Amino acid sequence: MKTAIINASPKIKNSNCALVLNDFKCYLGDKCELIECKLSFNTDYNEVFDTIKQADAWVFAFPLYVDNMPSHLLKFLEWLNDSKPDISNKHVYAITNCGFYEGIQAKCAINIVHYWCDKTGNIYGGSVGVGGGEAFDALKSVPVGYGPKASIDKALENLSNAVLNQTTTDDRFENLNYPRFLYKLGATGRWKKLIRKNGGKVKDLGRKLS
Ligand SMILES: Cc1cc2nc3c(=O)[nH]c(=O)nc-3n(C[C@H](O)[C@H](O)[C@H](O)COP(=O)(O)O)c2cc1C
Repeated sequence: MKTAIINASPKIKNSNCALVLNDFKCYLGDKCELIECKLSFNTDYNEVFDTIKQADAWVFAFPLYVDNMPSHLLKFLEWLNDSKPDISNKHVYAITNCGFYEGIQAKCAINIVHYWCDKTGNIYGGSVGVGGGEAFDALKSVPVGYGPKASIDKALENLSNAVLNQTTTDDRFENLNYPRFLYKLGATGRWKKLIRKNGGKVKDLGRKLS
């Protein structure tokens, strides 16, 4: 059985999607043949399609952008609908990670994948909405299934079982097992560090554009 994983984060490196996927892939193990590819703003859709077309299952992993999926992924789904009408009966799964603490933020974006499957005759297999995606970098050394990632990894394990068995499962929206206020504190600190690194000032973060 072949499974295609499409990482639709536009980041070339340090992508939180890639870190979430690392945990997911641990659960898949070597029980299926993996095909991995990236999807970004300037990706050749034909090339991606040629890579993933032979897979039985497609797993879209993407960051949440303005409560939705990134536009290049939406365009790719539209492109598939318009130019590849023969693609049907694939099991399609989604893993979304958001900057917000609450994984439920991803619900609208996940629904779009679900509706796309209904429209195109593909089988919507379920999803995981990961809250607190920005923490994954700091949790790189935490073993899969433990610590603040425990409930997220449990949902990823459940999804991996559905992928391996070619079945469907429910949408699971999970938060970190970590206090919300500490996550917010850490995230704010990171923004401050980033703006300084890029030559800006912390007070610019709250500046209103005229
Ligand atoms: C343009 C943009 C819009 C975003 N909008 C949201 C949002 O609406 N809700 C949210 O929870 N996170 C939002 N985020 C945060 C990302 O979803 C989060 O940082 C994610 O972990 C990035 O994953 P990646 O590193 O794989 O790209 C946004 C990030 C960017 C760059």
